[in-house]
Amino acid sequence: MSLQAKPVSHSRTTLTELMIPAYANFGGKIHGGTLLSLMDKVAYACSAKHAGQYCVTVSVDGVNFRQPVEVGELVSLMASVNYVGRTSLVVGIKVIAENVKVGTVKHTNTSYFTMVAKDDLDRPTEVPPLLLETPDDVRRFLEAMKRKELRAAYSEHFDNARLRMLHNENIDQLTGERCQLTDELKKNL
Ligand SMILES: CC(C)(COP(=O)(O)OP(=O)(O)OC[C@H]1O[C@@H](n2cnc3c(N)ncnc32)[C@H](O)[C@@H]1OP(=O)(O)O)[C@@H](O)C(=O)NCCC(=O)NCCS
Repeated sequence: MSLQAKPVSHSRTTLTELMIPAYANFGGKIHGGTLLSLMDKVAYACSAKHAGQYCVTVSVDGVNFRQPVEVGELVSLMASVNYVGRTSLVVGIKVIAENVKVGTVKHTNTSYFTMVAKDDLDRPTEVPPLLLETPDDVRRFLEAMKRKELRAAYSEHFDNARLRMLHNENIDQLTGERCQLTDELKKNL
């Protein structure tokens, strides 16, 4: 039986949390890991709503924190399903940090979580197709397809390069880099 498509709006989720001192490092800035944990939570909520199943995080793309987040700011994570495969979903998450007193809003990052729906036996299970309702829905779906294609090409390219790195013929590439080899290591190469 084929599953009925669900619109992006069905699972769109926003999580807002106050940044408290316990989330900060010694410099008073919020730990990147705190934000990652919140992103993981909202990705779960959004993907589980679409799938109607328990979902697990498989990979994360595009985690680049552009600006620091401070204690006292309100962080909002806006999540929506951008793409679905057979059992996987890509959830796009835009993170903003708001200083309510000053009235500033910073866009700290946009990241993409790939989630997989699991059945009761912990096996990947089919998710409903995505009903695209707006030009933005279409753009995000197409972008996710491109990201998936580029990631597969990158993995293949890197795997090939890694095999070549196992041989010491690339050692010259370290010249000019900020690293040193121990005398012991030089003898053994
Ligand atoms: C992700 C997982 C289910 C894949 O299992 P598998 O037996 O390889 O299953 P499949 O090959 O059928 O892949 C299932 C889906 O995951 C996708 N997938 C697998 N690895 C992926 C990766 N590294 N990045 C993106 N998607 C991936 C596949 O493309 C497939 O998607 P599709 O059905 O939409 O085409 C399995 O590796 C797993 O359970 N990992 C642990 C996840 C987890 O517990 N996360 C919590 C953090 S500890």
